Amino acid sequence: MAGRISQGFIDELLTRVDIVDIVDARVPLTRAGGGEFKARCPFHDEKTPSFTVSQRKQFYHCFGCGAHGTAIGFLMQYSHMDFPEAVENLAALAGVEVQREGGGRGALGAGGDGAAVKERQNLYDAIDEAGKFFRGMLRKHPQAGEAIDYLKGRGLSGRTVTHFGIGYAPDGYDNLRDALGDTEEKKQRLVTAGLLKKNEWGKVYDRFRRRVMFPIVDHRGRVVAFGGRVIGDGEPKYLNSPETAVFSKGAELYGLYRARSQGALQKSRRCLVVEGYMDVVSLAEHGIHNAVATLGTATTDRHLARLFRVVDEVVFCFDGDRAGRAAAWKALQVCLPLLKDAQSASFLLLDEGDDPDTLVRKAGAGEMQKRIAAAKPLPEFLLQHLRESVDMNQLDGPARLAELARPLVARMGQEVLQQVVSDRLAALAGLSPAEMARSLGIGRRPLQRAGAETVSPGAGTAHPDSGMAPAGATLVESAISMLVQQPALAQLVPADADLRAAGTPGAELLAELVEALRARPDLGTAALVERYRGTANFAHLEKSASRNHLLPDLAPEFRGILKKMLKTWPRRREIDRLVAKSSADGLSPTEKERLKNLMKAASEDKAAANA
Ligand code: UTP
Ligand code: MN
Repeated sequence: MAGRISQGFIDELLTRVDIVDIVDARVPLTRAGGGEFKARCPFHDEKTPSFTVSQRKQFYHCFGCGAHGTAIGFLMQYSHMDFPEAVENLAALAGVEVQREGGGRGALGAGGDGAAVKERQNLYDAIDEAGKFFRGMLRKHPQAGEAIDYLKGRGLSGRTVTHFGIGYAPDGYDNLRDALGDTEEKKQRLVTAGLLKKNEWGKVYDRFRRRVMFPIVDHRGRVVAFGGRVIGDGEPKYLNSPETAVFSKGAELYGLYRARSQGALQKSRRCLVVEGYMDVVSLAEHGIHNAVATLGTATTDRHLARLFRVVDEVVFCFDGDRAGRAAAWKALQVCLPLLKDAQSASFLLLDEGDDPDTLVRKAGAGEMQKRIAAAKPLPEFLLQHLRESVDMNQLDGPARLAELARPLVARMGQEVLQQVVSDRLAALAGLSPAEMARSLGIGRRPLQRAGAETVSPGAGTAHPDSGMAPAGATLVESAISMLVQQPALAQLVPADADLRAAGTPGAELLAELVEALRARPDLGTAALVERYRGTANFAHLEKSASRNHLLPDLAPEFRGILKKMLKTWPRRREIDRLVAKSSADGLSPTEKERLKNLMKAASEDKAAANA
C-alpha cells in the first residue's frame, strides 16, 4: 500500500510546473495581459472567453460558471483524474518521482506492477469494444427493429439514443462471443468483464441476450459495465454487469460523466439523483440533463462525495411508494455527515405509480422542473419523518422526538444544520431552543456574533472584483482572502501579533496561514490552497483564490485591516467578559467605568468606519 503523498512534495511540485502549460496543452490559451491568459471555458458552453488562468497565482477561474482551482484541480476537473492521478501526472511532467510519507515510492498507474496495469487496460479495451459491438447491432442486426421500436415506444429520439451510446444485444448465446472472443485470451477477458458467462462444462456464452443495452461510464469517461433491459416483459427486467476490477456499483452513477462533460451540472450547480436508467435517459430527452441514477443500489457516501465535488445541491427524486420512501430516508442518513457549508440536499417523492420517466412524458419538462424546485429541503424532510414516527399527544412525545433525533443530529457535519433542526424540534416539542439543544447534546452558538466588525462597503471594497472578500465579510475573512491572493502579505504581520485573539475559527485559520507562510515564504497561492484539500476550509480558500483584484498591491488594505483587528479584538473580548460578568455577579464601579469607555471607543470606531 503506497503512503500518503507528502505535503512538502506537493508544495514543491506546484512551484515546478506551470499551470499555463498544463491548461494550454488541453485548452489553447491566449494572452490577456498582466500575466493572465484566457480561453473559452471548457466547463460550460460560451461564445466569449471568461475562463482565465493566472500565472502568478497558478490558479484558474471562470467568471461565467465559477469553475476554479489549481493545476491539480484542473486535471481533476478537466481530465477527470482523481487526486493521486493528477499528482502523478504533474510529477511525470516535471520529471520527478512522487514522494510519499514514510519514504515509499509511488508506482505510476493505479498501484501494482506494470503487468497488472496493462491487464486492467486490456479489460477497459474489451468492454469498450463490446459497447461498440452493441451499438453496431442496433444499427444493422436483422432483428434490430424490435429494439428500435421499443426505444421509440418509450419516447426516445435517435439523438438521445446515440448520445447515451445505447445498443442492442440480439437474441442468442454466441453473438458477442463469436464477434469479439476470437482467442482464448480474449474470451477469458470477456468472462472477467462479466460479458460472457462460463457454464459447468467450461463453455462460454453471452450474458446479455435480447436486451437494450445501456453502457455505464465511469468518472473518467470509460465504459466499465452495462445495464441491459429486457425488451418487453421478462425476468429480470434489468440485467447488470457484475462487479469487476473496474466496476463498483457503490462508486459509479449512471449518467454522471455525460452530465458533467456537457456542463449541465456546473451550470445548474444542482444534480438530480433518480432510480432508473430510463429516468436519466428520458429526462435528457426532455432537455433535463442534470440527472444521474444509482445502479439498483442505495446511495452511498462515495456517490455523494463525487457529486458534491461538482454541485452544491443534490435533489433525490424517488418513487412515492414504500421502497422509494425508504430509499430517500437512507439517502438522507448518508448525506448528514457529508454536507458542508453551502451544500444542501432535498427530496422529491413522486406520486405512487409515477417515476421521473413517466412524469416527464406525461406532464412535460416544465412541470418536472417545478417539482424539482419545490423539493423538500433536508431539514424539512427529516422533521416530517420524525413527526410521523412519534405521537406528540403522548406524554413522552417530546422526549421520544429528541431521542430519535439525537443520533441524526450528532452525525450532521454542518453546525448550521444542527441548529436549524434543533430549533425546529424545540418548537415542535414545546421546549425552549436551549433545552432542546441540551437534550440533543449540541452546543449552541449565535449564528452571527453580535457586534462582529465587518468591512464597511465604500472603505476600499466597492468593486466586487477588487480582491477583497465580498462586502459584509468580517475583517478576518477579508484578511484571509487577501493573503491567499498575495501570500507575500504574510510578511507584514508583526511577529508578536496575536491573531488568535478573536477566538473564532476564522482567526485560527488566518493565524495558521500566516505561520505556514512564515515557514515557507516561497509558497504561492496554489500551493497554499492545496495544503487544505480535503479539509473544511478548502472550498472557501479556493473561492478566495479565484477572486480577482484590480489593485496590484493589496498591502495598504491588508495593513489597515490588520491594525483594526488587532485593536478591536482584545477590546471585544474584554467587552464580552465584562458583559457576562455583569449579568452573572455584577460589576464593580471601576469595571462599570471601563465597560462604558470600551463601548464608547467601539462605537466611535464604527462611526468613523461608516463615515
Ligand atoms: P425500476 O424498476 O424503477 O426501473 O428500477 P425503471 O427505470 O423505471 O424501468 P422501466 O421504466 O420499467 O424500464 C430502477 C433501477 O433498479 C435497477 C436498475 O438499475 C433500474 O434502472 N433494477 C431494476 C435492476 O437492476 N434489476 C431489475 O430487475 C430491476
Ligand atoms: Mn420506469
